[in-house]
Parts: sequence; C-alpha cells; structure tokens
Amino acid sequence: RVDVEMVIAIDGPAASGKGTLARRLALHYGLPHLDTGLLYRAVALALIDADRDLADAAAAEDAARSLRAESLGDTRLRERAMGEAASVVSAIPAVRAALLDWQRRFAAAPGGAVLDGRDIGTVVCPDAPVKLFITASPEERAQRRYRELGGRGEPVTFEAVLADIVRRDARDADRAAAPLRIADDAVVIDTTDLDADGAFRAATAVVDTRRRVG
Ligand code: DC
Repeated sequence: RVDVEMVIAIDGPAASGKGTLARRLALHYGLPHLDTGLLYRAVALALIDADRDLADAAAAEDAARSLRAESLGDTRLRERAMGEAASVVSAIPAVRAALLDWQRRFAAAPGGAVLDGRDIGTVVCPDAPVKLFITASPEERAQRRYRELGGRGEPVTFEAVLADIVRRDARDADRAAAPLRIADDAVVIDTTDLDADGAFRAATAVVDTRRRVG
C-alpha cells in the first residue's frame, strides 16, 4: 500500500479540465504531478513508431513495461490522434497492469502527489484522502478541446472534435478493465459553467476541508 498522506486523486472524462486543475493544485500545494494519460499516450506512440498494430496486446504490454520517464516529454503525445490511440491501448488489461506500479511509485513520493486520469481514485490510489471527479457536458468539453487544437494549428472541425469526445467517453466508460467511473467517496465538480479559477476554488475548498478532517 502506498503512503496516501497527501495524495490528491483526480479523475474525469477527456477535456474536462482535470489536467489544468491538477497542475494548479500541484503548484499550490507544492506536490509533484503526474498526468497518467501521458503514460497511455506514450505506449500508443511507441507502437506507432515501431509500426505495430494498436491492438497487438503483446507488443503493447512490452511497450508499457519498457516505458521511460524521458519519453513523456515528446510533444507528439499531445496530438489529437494520440488521445484516441491511447484510449485503444488503455483497454488492454496487461497494459494497465504494467503501468500500475509505475503510478503507485509516483503516488508514494514523500509528502504526497497529485495524479490525474480515469481510474486514480478507483484503482491506482483507492485510499487517497482526496478524490475529485471533474466533468462537464460533452459540448462544453468539445468546445474547449476545439479551441485548444485550433490554437496549436491542428486543422479540425468542431463536429469532428465532438465526435471524438463522445466516442472516447463511451470506450473509456464501457471497457472491462478499470472503466471510467466515479469513486464512491469522490467529490464531483461539474465545470460546464465554471472557468479555470472557479474550478480551482471549488477544488481547494474540498482539499482543505478533507485535510482538516483527516
Ligand atoms: O487524459 P488523456 O486524454 O490524456 O487520456 C488518453 C486516454 O488514456 C484516455 O482516453 C483513456 C486512457 N487513460 C486511462 O485509461 N487511464 C488513465 N488513468 C488515464 C488515461
């Protein structure tokens, strides 16, 4: 079992704002932050670079087992296609198992850590004292992702981004291995009508209350 003293577990669907929130919370509380989606994206990129099929479970498990921290800085990991590819490899149980120790070691950092993903509160850190589930309507999430991709110069339509989001939600929630779901003891923050500052205020209110109680 990891030391859960100050672990903040953040889960939610694609483009819910959980990544931005996780970074701000980590900075605010002086904790290291791991965007666990990057691990799945890096496994997908390793397969693509090696010309392997994304559904090749043995190759995907190998890629997950040999994943190195340095590969998480690759800017290609942020591309739109990589989110979709990551969602495909993340449904492979052996890939999830291979990445579990990695994530738990990170969460055991002295003093604690902030991790964001799909199964942090349910599987990776079930004993985390603070669990947040960040969500927003599919349309609002698609709007945010559309603006972000446009700002980076990726040519894409709003409709295509919305279709991506809906498909990825379904795959991440319907898979058998660690599907996206709200942990029983998670606090849900719906950011549909909140900006980044509003989400941050709502989250720190939860963290500060839990820390006083704990
Ligand atoms: O958060 P993201 O968009 O970078 O995640 C990409 C994909 O990786 C996501 O669609 C599902 C998968 N993922 C996962 O299964 N478990 C996590 N803890 C994080 C991401």
